[in-house]
Amino acid sequence: MVASATFWDSRAEKYDSEFAFSVEGGSQRNRRLAENLRDARAVLDFGCGNGGISLCIAEYVDEIVGLDVSSKMIHFAEQRKAEAGVDNITFQAIGESEFPIFDTQFDVVLGLSVLHLVPDPQGTLAWFRNILGSEGCLIIETPCLSDMSLARQLTVRAAMLLGAAPSIHSFSYNSLRDLLDQSGFFIEEEFEVSRKDRMLWCVCKSKGLPSG
Ligand SMILES: C[S@@+](CC[C@H](N)C(=O)[O-])C[C@H]1O[C@@H](n2cnc3c(N)ncnc32)[C@H](O)[C@@H]1O
Repeated sequence: MVASATFWDSRAEKYDSEFAFSVEGGSQRNRRLAENLRDARAVLDFGCGNGGISLCIAEYVDEIVGLDVSSKMIHFAEQRKAEAGVDNITFQAIGESEFPIFDTQFDVVLGLSVLHLVPDPQGTLAWFRNILGSEGCLIIETPCLSDMSLARQLTVRAAMLLGAAPSIHSFSYNSLRDLLDQSGFFIEEEFEVSRKDRMLWCVCKSKGLPSG
């Protein structure tokens, strides 16, 4: 298996040339993202890639921190930030299992297409919960490999073995729900973004924390 940073560094240029994201775009995912950012002040974009999503939401929030294991992705994110003249985003490259400490709490944590890639999803979710304010929300988008068709699973697993895809966790919808539950989150809203990849998009809130 290829190390995550090496894999994503090797994909960064192509990813940057192809990635397009717009909050105004008609998709349910983008509309719901904008809606959930309405009262957000500080946002963490974990696994931010080339910063495309951070840059699109920058005008809606006060402050964004974008973290990614790939320093090449962060390089493109910095380049795009400079081109856009945006000054409320801080991008930072981090280690594969690094959980930075922040002075402030976040209102929204984005973990879009990344939870299946981290070495320790449970530890990552525990960290998300710690850095989120009590009223904050976690928005994730995660493919559920175990629920894909057998043909699709075989294709993805072969790609992983050949180094053409990163190593990913084999979540099912149920195991992902259980993991969120064990990590102290409940799902407030959910829908399937892609049938082929059984891609679950959901907004999660912390359980049992005092509000206010
Ligand atoms: C599929 S891309 C998603 C990018 C962006 N979140 C989006 O939805 O368009 C996955 C990103 O997660 C990053 N990533 C993978 N493993 C990571 C880890 N352990 N910690 C932080 N970022 C990671 C990759 O470098 C890559 O930029």
